[in-house]
Amino acid sequence: MDRQGIIIAIDGPVASGKSTTAREVARRLGYLYIDSGAMYRAVALRALRLGVDLTDEEAVSAVASEAGIYFSEKEGRLRILLDGEDVTEAIRTPEVAEASSHVAAIPEVREALILRQHEMGQAGGVVMDGRDIGTVVFPDAELKVYLTASPEARARRRHAELRTKGIESPLPETERQIRERDARDLQTQTLQSGGLYAKDAVVIDTTRLSIQEQVNTILSLALDRGARTSGPSRG
Ligand code: CDP
Repeated sequence: MDRQGIIIAIDGPVASGKSTTAREVARRLGYLYIDSGAMYRAVALRALRLGVDLTDEEAVSAVASEAGIYFSEKEGRLRILLDGEDVTEAIRTPEVAEASSHVAAIPEVREALILRQHEMGQAGGVVMDGRDIGTVVFPDAELKVYLTASPEARARRRHAELRTKGIESPLPETERQIRERDARDLQTQTLQSGGLYAKDAVVIDTTRLSIQEQVNTILSLALDRGARTSGPSRG
């Protein structure tokens, strides 16, 4: 198969800056960006709307396997479609975030989404972010990065991000939600993904880094691993 570039896996806990960093790295390389977390969020939104009990594994698995989840690009921004509806904004609420980590704990849900993620990225020239990209989805990725930051820094970032979307929630409440979701995600990763990150992942603590510094660090690692800035564009 003709590879269109390398595979870059960016994993990390809640609000560690994965999405912003991954999107910008992809843009600079002319690569495809895939937000795997958005897929878990879309399944969660579908389950919430259908009133499905999130602890009913069989019912939630059906919600996942019947969901039409697609990515598209509009004015240079990644959009996520659920059963034909643009849910890019609707999946960003704290309620959907919480539900997403419940549906993500169900093995059949993971199986279905991991298969799709693998299909979407296997041609290369892709940056994918999530929790298990370097460990499960693409264990052979040329570059694996694990982004982390203190819980306080992550809470501040998520709080500011929600505020720009018109969602007001007190900072201590945001921090509590993040810690709770971290704990649940950690359990899922330990039980189903063989840990937080791959042995060969590059761990970057972003607590004191700007987005630009994170992006530049990852770009230079990507160039070392065979990516080319002038590579073929997937956009
Ligand atoms: O952006 P944020 O860190 O809030 O989370 P996200 O990347 O949008 O992912 C939402 C949830 O989906 C996570 O809390 C995980 O429970 C789940 N997830 C997962 O299990 N595996 C992935 N590869 C990506 C997300």
